[in-house]
Order: sequence, then C-alpha cells, then structure tokens
Amino acid sequence: MRIKHFLKWSASLILLALITWGFIAYWTSTNDCERKTEAPQNPMKAVVYCDYGLSNLKLEEVEVPVPTDDQVLIRVHAASINPYDWHFIEGTPTIMRLSVGLRKPKDIRLGVDFAGTVEAIGKNVTQFQPGDEVFGGKSGAFAEYVCARADRVARKPPNLTFEQAASVNIAGMTALQGVRDKGQVQPGQKILINGASGGVGTFAVQIAKSLGADVTGVCSGKNTEMVQSLGADHVIDYTKEDFTKGDQRYDVILDNVANHSLAECRHVLTEKGRYVMIGGGGANEQGLIGILARPLQAMIMSPFMSQKMGMMMAKSNQKDLNFLGELMQSGKVKPIIDRTYKLSEIRQAIAYLEEGHARGKVVLTME
Ligand SMILES: NC(=O)c1ccc[n+]([C@@H]2O[C@H](COP(=O)([O-])OP(=O)(O)OC[C@H]3O[C@@H](n4cnc5c(N)ncnc54)[C@H](OP(=O)(O)O)[C@@H]3O)[C@@H](O)[C@H]2O)c1
Repeated sequence: MRIKHFLKWSASLILLALITWGFIAYWTSTNDCERKTEAPQNPMKAVVYCDYGLSNLKLEEVEVPVPTDDQVLIRVHAASINPYDWHFIEGTPTIMRLSVGLRKPKDIRLGVDFAGTVEAIGKNVTQFQPGDEVFGGKSGAFAEYVCARADRVARKPPNLTFEQAASVNIAGMTALQGVRDKGQVQPGQKILINGASGGVGTFAVQIAKSLGADVTGVCSGKNTEMVQSLGADHVIDYTKEDFTKGDQRYDVILDNVANHSLAECRHVLTEKGRYVMIGGGGANEQGLIGILARPLQAMIMSPFMSQKMGMMMAKSNQKDLNFLGELMQSGKVKPIIDRTYKLSEIRQAIAYLEEGHARGKVVLTME
C-alpha cells in the first residue's frame, strides 16, 4: 500500500516538474531579436525572422560575417529555396521546435543553398582564391554574404548560371544520395520517382537516367512533358492513374511525396526492392510529428519483409558537390528553374513553394 502511494506521488512530482520545465523553457525561449545590438559597422542585407510564420520574414541590415581560418567569405549572387526552409519558418512539424526554439526560432537567419563569388579566405584555406565562383550550402544563405567552410563548397561549373548552381546543394544532393547510395540503382533497373517534377524530383530523374536506369516519373498532367524531356522513359499522371495499383514492379521507389501507405508502395516493389523515403506532407499538413511516423513504421515492418524500406536524410559534402558539378558540366544533369524572385520578394517566393507544386527549383537573386 505504501509503495503504491510512493509511486503515485513520484509520478505526480515528475509530471509537475516536466510541466514546469516546459512552461519555463517556452517563456524563456528567446533569440537575437530580443538582444539589443548596435547598428552594423559593415552592413549587408539579410532575411531575418524574429517569430515563426511567413508574415514575420523581413529584410534587415546585419553585419557582414568574418571568415574563420577554415572558411571562405562568399558574395552570394543567388540562393535557392527548399521545403527545408519553410519547416524552419513555420516551426513545423511542432516537435522540431524542441530543438529549433519552443516559442521563437533560436536562429533568426534563413536559407541554405547558395552560389556566388569568393570575396575573402581564412588563413588555412588553400583551395580557393578571391574571385573564384563557387556553390554549396550554409545556413544564413538568404543574404548578400555568407561564410562557409572551404571543404563544404565546390567550384561552379562554368556552363552554369549562378541561379542554376544555387539550386543544387539540397535538392541535387538529396537526389544523388537517394538514387545512387540509398537506392543503389544499377543500370537497367526500374526506378519510380514519386514527385518527379519538384526540386528533388527533377534532379533525381536526370541522375537515375545518367546511371542507366529505366525511369518512371510521377507528376501531374501539366508536368508530364517536362519530366519526359528530362529523360524519363515513362510518366504517370497521378491525377489519372495510381502507380500503386498498376502491374509494374520497381527495383527502387524514390518517394518525395509520401501520399501512399508503405503497404501500397511495397505492393509495387520487386522482391528485393528498395523504398527510399525522402519527404512529403504540405506546409499546412505537418501537425505534431509530420511524416516521422513512417520511418518508424518501416523500421517495425523491416524484419518481416524481403524489401528494404526507410527514410534518407541527405548530407552535404564537397565530394558529392563536385560529383554533381561534373554531371552538370558534362550536360548529363541540368538544374531546372521554375521561378526567380528578388531577395526582397522572399515572402512571395516561400508562399509559392509552400503551395507544393513548384516545377523544379525556386531561386532568389540578390539585387
Ligand atoms: N530527406 C531529405 O534529406 C530531404 C531533402 C530535400 C527535400 N526533402 C523533402 O522532400 C520533399 C520534396 O522536396 P522538393 O524540394 O522536391 O519539393 P518541391 O520542389 O516543393 O516539389 C513538390 C513536387 O511534388 C509534386 N506533387 C505534389 N503532389 C503530388 C502527388 N500527389 N503525386 C506526385 N507528385 C506530387 C508536385 O508536382 P505537381 O505540381 O505535378 O503536383 C511538385 O513538383 C519535401 O517534403 C522535402 O521536405 C527531404
């Protein structure tokens, strides 16, 4: 009886402590907007947000960053937008706020993908010189300047515009690592790319083709011609046909949309097929955990099936940036740009991407 009483009290105390901690953590969650700073000595324009929500994005003058010994300072000519950015802007799925800021975003700067010109180098940097044209990824890229580690950027292929090069880092890297590494696509194998007309999809179709695969792209009717022109051997218009109900079996499914259950996708995988989940869920459909239940479900199912199913998180690195650079230099892969906005039109650009129907990449230019 005493033990029961003790356990009941302990559980109540832990619960109370957790609620108190959550309450304190929420109200003390703060960011640089709340700290008074002097006017920048060496100003540049950058996108800043003090609170979650698209309407809170603004263009402000902040200090030009100074490169550390291993970094290069890059004058950004173009930056591209990814769903990754709107996850941070909206703070969704809600669970991610545990790490990025409960009440307000901890980091008030936005953007990752960029292309530009090296302006200055840190003292350990030997790979680049001022004036080199480069592309890569670094948080805070929606700005006139960004500092990035030299081993995280690559030389821009001369046949690409800055806008094209800026669109590569997240979408191209994800497509490459999804198709080549996680999907392990072999020449002649059949791959289906769900969401073939978006940022990741347009790269994935071309990369899979360059690896000799037989490619099926899934997109809406208005994009079928474009996906075909990228090299897809077959295109399925999802408004007319459900790929999970067809007779065709695929060695690899690269899923950028996650609009079919794992069981449905498994149904159209070959016996040893691989299902690579990249993402899915619109900006207004994230809820508490978004699509994170799916990889968990895949993990639970995996001991009971011959296929491999799982989620992939892309990791940016210089080797793969160079690999993508070579594919683009040789003309095997060409970044597809849907719309270009000015940095000052950041809200319109994000709002367009949040609609979930971009045809290729959405890019920002700095003037
Ligand atoms: N795991 C990672 O490391 C990683 C990296 C990058 C991105 N992601 C995630 O991957 C997803 C895709 O990213 P993205 O940059 O490609 O997004 P995006 O550029 O916004 O592309 C969205 C595409 O989805 C297509 N689509 C919408 N509904 C569809 C449906 N029912 N069936 C087939 N296609 C449909 C749209 O084509 P239509 O206009 O033809 O409908 C559009 O082209 C996002 O959820 C993103 O967060 C994950």
